Amino acid sequence: MEHTLEKAQNFLSRAGEGAPSSNEVDRRLVTLTAPASAAAEQYRALYYRLERMRELAPMKLVAFTSALPSEGKSVTAANLALTSARANRERRVVLVDADFRRSRAANYLGIKPRPGLSELLAGDCEGREAVRRFRSSRLVVIPAGAPPEEPGQALAGPRMRQLLHSLREGFDEVYLDLPPALPFADASILAASVDGLVLVIRACATSHRFVAEAIERLSGTRLIGCVLNAAEPGGAFSEAYPR
Ligand SMILES: Nc1ncnc2c1ncn2[C@@H]1O[C@H](COP(=O)(O)OP(=O)(O)OP(=O)(O)O)[C@@H](O)[C@H]1O
Ligand SMILES: [Mg+2]
Repeated sequence: MEHTLEKAQNFLSRAGEGAPSSNEVDRRLVTLTAPASAAAEQYRALYYRLERMRELAPMKLVAFTSALPSEGKSVTAANLALTSARANRERRVVLVDADFRRSRAANYLGIKPRPGLSELLAGDCEGREAVRRFRSSRLVVIPAGAPPEEPGQALAGPRMRQLLHSLREGFDEVYLDLPPALPFADASILAASVDGLVLVIRACATSHRFVAEAIERLSGTRLIGCVLNAAEPGGAFSEAYPR
């Protein structure tokens, strides 16, 4: 599989823009749809915080989880990956949707959802079929694909370990979108293999108790910080997310 993915990366480098996407990008990907907005600026700030951390220690694999569902993991991961791909034209950046429970990356980015990670892990497709370039950007995306019967088992298996190894080899920055930490074990399973874990917290929605429980659940992992999402519903974010 390692070999297959490296080939896929080479294939994408040669392919230039890759296949055009069939759908529209979700408007909440503000780094694309409203790059001058205050929200896009926040993603850039987040990106440069990670860059400063990278100066201190290498950090290729960065994963996003939250205590509960719908806190903003997928929007944050996609915006950050897009920000990174824009900021560094020489870096190879990949966004992996590792949330088989509620996969969103394909939908948000308007790309073909299958085949993806699950097909790759099942050995049902080649690396180059699951890995695709997002429009003309530097960003490469692996959508989740069809949900496997046992998502936790698929992520805990040796094929996933091999894949993460291949991604480390083939890319400079890997962003993983994970399921929430409290309802599922998936995030704890994968968190052990990443260089940095970010906890997304939906402001004014998730209670301290759940955040504390999630942090406890993730103890022993490389939790590098939290993102307070949708922190100003009546302020800066309301411009970027018109109702
Ligand atoms: N900062 C924000 N302001 C307004 N809406 C937001 C913001 N962040 C996310 N949303 C919206 O909240 C919903 C959930 O966001 P998202 O899919 O990123 O969450 P998630 O944590 O990945 O959810 P899931 O647990 O289902 O994977 C989406 O409708 C998204 O568009
Ligand atoms: Mg999500």
